[in-house]
Amino acid sequence: MAGLIEPHGGKLINRVVEGKERDELSKKAKEFKKITLNFREISDLEMIAVGAFSPLEGFMCKEDYHSSMDTMTLKNGLPWTIPVTLSTTADMAKGLTEGEELALVDGKGKTLAVLHLEEVFSHDKEKEAIQVYGTKEEAHPGVKKVYEMSEMLLGGEVLVLARPEHAKFKEHRLDPAETRALFKDKGWKRVVGFQTRNPIHRAHEYIQKCALETVDGLMIHPIVGETKGDDIPADVRMHCYTALMENYFPKDRVVLVVLPAAMRYAGPKEAIFHALIRKNYGCTHFIVGRDHAGVGNYYGSFDAHFIFDEFDPEEIGIRPMFFDYTFFCKKCGSMASYKSCPHDSADHISLSGTKVREMLRAGTVPPTEFTRPEVARILIDAMKG
Ligand code: ADX
Repeated sequence: MAGLIEPHGGKLINRVVEGKERDELSKKAKEFKKITLNFREISDLEMIAVGAFSPLEGFMCKEDYHSSMDTMTLKNGLPWTIPVTLSTTADMAKGLTEGEELALVDGKGKTLAVLHLEEVFSHDKEKEAIQVYGTKEEAHPGVKKVYEMSEMLLGGEVLVLARPEHAKFKEHRLDPAETRALFKDKGWKRVVGFQTRNPIHRAHEYIQKCALETVDGLMIHPIVGETKGDDIPADVRMHCYTALMENYFPKDRVVLVVLPAAMRYAGPKEAIFHALIRKNYGCTHFIVGRDHAGVGNYYGSFDAHFIFDEFDPEEIGIRPMFFDYTFFCKKCGSMASYKSCPHDSADHISLSGTKVREMLRAGTVPPTEFTRPEVARILIDAMKG
């Protein structure tokens, strides 16, 4: 892969076992104690397996867990801001011995992976809430997830026997090795990644196109793992993304690939995490706009920009492309941002999320300066459903 950006830590991790090795391990795994994974853990397992979380080779042990919170690095010094953990109850943990192999199973009891149990340690939920999410409030959806997890954590490397099955978005599911090959094939040396959990409105489109002006290609990389209940479902969003790409994006410069990760809503900490993931997928640049991965009023609008100053850019590797608050300005007659527009906010068309939802629910297409009509129509239909 000469010429492409190096994965985080220098090597693209692959923890999927195949062929004879898989057959033998699957046979042995029948005898192992079983740990049932929830949706989040299954999605993290898949991300580890395919190298999206490189250099992680398994669920975090105690040192990495605390180090990622205390110093925003792994114990080996590499930047890392979000714990990736597997939890179990104190009762279950009592019966486990460090050094043994465990079968990681899904809700139906199907064995997905084997965990080499290196460490059993306690889950410091309050510390995680404060250090990662900046609040102890359960109203924060990321904190709520932490509180819902069990009290003990199981750390160790994994070997994945069966990837989770996905019925949807098959043609958009590419692993880091595949996107890297795709970028190489297209001759893209500079590729910008765009994280999103929302339909793409004009502000999103504008910052993607501004970024695209200076690089070779754009990867729209929506999260399709677990999101909070009031976010627009992934299949509706995927319709919006395809409609937008068909009508407003150059076909040879943009790819749409889904990211099967779970949203954490950790604002600045998640911005770093999102950037490192996209680096593993082969992006050289990453868009960070206003209130990236934010929720409610927990983070300052540009905290996700400022956090990058706390790292050595060489160690992050992928380059953040920062964007100010963007909108359509009637006086400029174009999309703009507070950085580029001299006019008053009264001249700006910007709608609150609540207002947009109200309009869509009433079957009203919001102004084209806010959202493309093709996208609005898909959202109106989805709301009727
Ligand atoms: S996020 O949780 O994935 O960040 P969303 O899908 O809304 O939410 O945002 C995707 C990206 O677009 C993020 O980098 C975000 O900061 C940026 N963004 C969203 N709206 C705006 C806006 N009006 N101005 C500038 N950047 C924005």
